[in-house]
Amino acid sequence: MTFDFDHVPQRLGTDSQKWQKYAGRDILPLWVADMDFKSSPAIVAALQQRVAEGIYGYARPVASTVEAFVGALTQRYGWTIDPTWIVWLPGLVAGLNLTAQAYAEPGDEVLTLTPVYPPFISGPKNSGRISTQVPLRLVAHRWEIDWGALERAVTPRTKLFFLCNPHNPIARVWRRAELERLGEFCLRHNLVLCSDEIHCDLILDDLPHLPTASLGDAMAQRTITLMAPSKTYNVPGLCTSMAIIPDAILRAKFIRASAGIMAEVNVLGFTACEAAYRDSEPWRQALLQTLRSNRDLILDFVARELPGITIEAPIEATYLAWLNVAALKLADPIAHFEQHGVGLSEGSFFGEPRGIHVRLNFGCPPATLREALQRMKRAVAAIGTP
Ligand SMILES: Cc1ncc(COP(=O)(O)O)c(C=O)c1O
Repeated sequence: MTFDFDHVPQRLGTDSQKWQKYAGRDILPLWVADMDFKSSPAIVAALQQRVAEGIYGYARPVASTVEAFVGALTQRYGWTIDPTWIVWLPGLVAGLNLTAQAYAEPGDEVLTLTPVYPPFISGPKNSGRISTQVPLRLVAHRWEIDWGALERAVTPRTKLFFLCNPHNPIARVWRRAELERLGEFCLRHNLVLCSDEIHCDLILDDLPHLPTASLGDAMAQRTITLMAPSKTYNVPGLCTSMAIIPDAILRAKFIRASAGIMAEVNVLGFTACEAAYRDSEPWRQALLQTLRSNRDLILDFVARELPGITIEAPIEATYLAWLNVAALKLADPIAHFEQHGVGLSEGSFFGEPRGIHVRLNFGCPPATLREALQRMKRAVAAIGTP
């Protein structure tokens, strides 16, 4: 079966957060992480059938939904989980906030590696916890953990470590040795490890995704894994995600912290989730081919046509490119690219000073990406011209 990733859908005038931001302006939105592709045909068909039933009451996952998810983890990653470890959530940002509240007290510290997806920083702060950020280091074209800085950042009030695996926005797949060392670090400092793996099904290079909690019992017993079909299958608006918590005490704390304030997952979300993990593997493989080719297009175009912009490290996973624009010396890079018709994400939201990086979402048809890159070329050329 072939799938159409060339079709450019009309999202302007729909309720799309991504496209509404620039309504009425000729700006291609390559910011928030959803894709301009229709979900897999299997998901669309399952939703159509569910909608036709006409009853949308309070929901609980049926056994086949749980089996589809658990089966995908075993097949793809060799990770066998007990279904009772799953806590369903309406979103992973909620999961990050909840994790901070469940395992740290106000004034306690939550470690993370920057640049990172903004709720890793804002999540703890929202409830009076402190975000401690350890910048990643660029070593020989690779983002590396600064282990010395990480050790120095720990205080008696450090309770949690927030890991992004694979890491948004630097598109890095963590290797076994790194994850094992992080596990040893968390064990030694008695930290709960929260591993956000929302991008794990979007690995572009020939590298395995290693679920952090799958690396041994000690790791599993202190890890909260966050996963969702939302990024991979382009269903983030259906608000369905999971926390996987093997340890019964940690799980009870998490559930207690969520009591009465966490919305339940909805009927359409469960339907899409099942069709995603059980029936959409050929679509996912085709998507990965499109994303690889978009990734290669960006790498080539940036190197040849965008002087002053660099991509410092391989894009191993995700559909997000982290572009260094510091050499352009723009006070406000986002505003500059918007003036030339491209909407990117502000690097400073990810925990670094403004003016160094911007993030580009390449989860879109190749034609959209090519047009955006041409606009960026004009934007770069316009610098310095009155
Ligand atoms: C690492 C990471 N976690 C969580 C989310 C968002 O999760 P949700 O939409 O389920 O709140 C994103 C979205 O880009 C993300 O990149």
